[in-house]
Amino acid sequence: MNRKFFAVLLAAIMLLALGFAGCNKDEATPAEDGGAVANKDKPLVWYNRQPSNSTTGDLDMEALNFNDKTYYVGFDANQGADLQGQMVLDYLKAHIADMDRNGDGIIGYVLAIGDIGHNDSIARTRGIRKALGTAVEQDGTVLSDPVGTNVDGSATVVQDSEIEIDGKTYIIRELASQEMKNSTGATWDAATAGNALSSWTSSFGDQIDIVVSNNDGMGMAMFNAWSKDNNVPTFGYDANADAVEAIKDGFGGTISQHADVQAYLTLRVLRNALDGVDIDTGILTPDSEGNVLSEDVVKYVAEERSYYALNVAITADNYEEFLDSTKVYEPVSKQLSEENSPRKKVWLNIYNSADNFLSSTYVPLLEKYDDLLNLDVEYFGGDGQTEANIVNRLGNPDQYDAFAINMVKTDNSASYIELLK
Ligand code: BGC
Ligand code: CA
Repeated sequence: MNRKFFAVLLAAIMLLALGFAGCNKDEATPAEDGGAVANKDKPLVWYNRQPSNSTTGDLDMEALNFNDKTYYVGFDANQGADLQGQMVLDYLKAHIADMDRNGDGIIGYVLAIGDIGHNDSIARTRGIRKALGTAVEQDGTVLSDPVGTNVDGSATVVQDSEIEIDGKTYIIRELASQEMKNSTGATWDAATAGNALSSWTSSFGDQIDIVVSNNDGMGMAMFNAWSKDNNVPTFGYDANADAVEAIKDGFGGTISQHADVQAYLTLRVLRNALDGVDIDTGILTPDSEGNVLSEDVVKYVAEERSYYALNVAITADNYEEFLDSTKVYEPVSKQLSEENSPRKKVWLNIYNSADNFLSSTYVPLLEKYDDLLNLDVEYFGGDGQTEANIVNRLGNPDQYDAFAINMVKTDNSASYIELLK
């Protein structure tokens, strides 16, 4: 090798090495970048479980205002709950002639409650009771307490209602409802719901004409345990793929809370805050790639620092369009450039890795959006009951540029905030 050639080669190698070092600096050292920003100033998104008092439902504004880069992403719980109630009522009206299985003039339903302290669960219980007329109000609010069993209609947290359809009057009764919490404390528990229905049906099965659930995980467990074989319409919430698929086999219907929009929003607000651009970029305001959402799928409530996706009812009339629950939402499916949105590291947890909705619908969507948004997300799964297990895994916040938190209990924000202060 001649000397000149060698010198040129050496220079080339050095340039290359320098190039690598430079590019490492830009994109592969989130720890350093993250280190430069104090944890208390990093973007934070609460999602799926809104920081709030689990007894009163009042929002935890301190958590929602942790810093000026803090947001909540969820969906409109009341609009969805009213929609679920309406969906069940519409079904009942359309099929009333065949609904009363034992012919006693009473349409009996049972209700699976997810978590008595979770605002979505409370809203759905209220939505069903309001639509069916079984709600009881106290001090201006509809009670959402479980009734236990109410086969004779004597309960006080719900009431029998009367509806007239085609000149005939029917009584509607909430025969039973309970929180589906397992023995170790995990809520929204599908297996518990299946077992509860089995025990209800063994004592008053012929009185049950409708099965309603606060979510699809529990709804499908009940459908599979009993209602499918007995042709009893069963309703859920979430539009999980298995529930949508089951509509052709007699599952009554479900509600899509637009997980495809929520998963995007969860990561998009972090992305925008990291890039220092307007928080609405790529949301209700188009970004440079053309990603944008419309007002019929999302709304922003500034005083609550919250983006809420809107819900859609899914029944036998339209279920075929919703069979793929983990498909990226087309209007926000365009890849961001690494130039404007360099790679960043995100810490994200799921309160319960066994939660059907989060694990089968939400997380697969997040995994698609994290690529499109150039975010390296580390996913941590909890057991649904021990907040400390999750909090402990946030032991090293310096290593991350942003955080996405799904609390076990909506009132536990302080334990996370403590670590970021
Ligand atoms: C979903 C439930 C889920 C819960 C978890 C709700 O929005 O509908 O299926 O279990 O979130 O927090
Ligand atoms: Ca009956």
